[in-house]
Amino acid sequence: MQIAIVTLFPELFEPFLRTSFVGRAVERGVLSVLLEDLRPHGLGNHLSIDDTPYGGGSGMVMRPDCVVAAMDAAELKLGAAARPRRVLLTPQGKRFDQTLARKLSEVPALVLVCGRYEGFDERVRYFADDEVSLGDFVLTGGEVAAMSVIESTVRLLPNVLGNHDSVREESFSPECGGMLEYPQFTRPASYRGYDVPDVLRAGDHEKIAAFRRKQALARSRARRPDLLRRRGSQ
Ligand code: ADE
Repeated sequence: MQIAIVTLFPELFEPFLRTSFVGRAVERGVLSVLLEDLRPHGLGNHLSIDDTPYGGGSGMVMRPDCVVAAMDAAELKLGAAARPRRVLLTPQGKRFDQTLARKLSEVPALVLVCGRYEGFDERVRYFADDEVSLGDFVLTGGEVAAMSVIESTVRLLPNVLGNHDSVREESFSPECGGMLEYPQFTRPASYRGYDVPDVLRAGDHEKIAAFRRKQALARSRARRPDLLRRRGSQ
């Protein structure tokens, strides 16, 4: 998978791209990442990429000419066989979730565009395929959101995590019916008065599977009833 990141802060990504399984995916060539600094695409003595909003108002807006020039440059440098999917990170986008992570993990080339300031000039949207939000809160920029998209997407690529079964049976996966995963326990069997349920220690696999199904359902109902409603409406 190829990913280009358009950002004013490429240095934020460097440790992230060197560390843990993302770093290993880069090392092994499963993932290649290109950082496209927005600054050189800026204008004037200060290489500004933002300007005041038409119509007045507080804050600065990212200029469409600078942002789209950076997106085009990143796409050209990627040199992908198929046109990359261009994704803007913005609080106004579609809420990111595991279904979208799975879809993006099947895309061979992505351009992730991180906004800053008060947001993108509206016309940038005409040059993007998707707009994605991390959730209903506002970050000062899209960089942390882009890292979340990369981490959740890359871990779904084949041969990235050691044990591929762990991405199959986890919260939100089709294998878990889109629900939260059942609770997990490891040693010690007893910790400060809290014990591992007997059924998990007895070794009867059918009973363990039934216990886990029941627990996953109960905890999804208590914590995330929206997941059950969504499941019911599919
Ligand atoms: N940029 C600022 N806030 C954001 C959010 N919630 N999701 C994605 N990008 C953002």
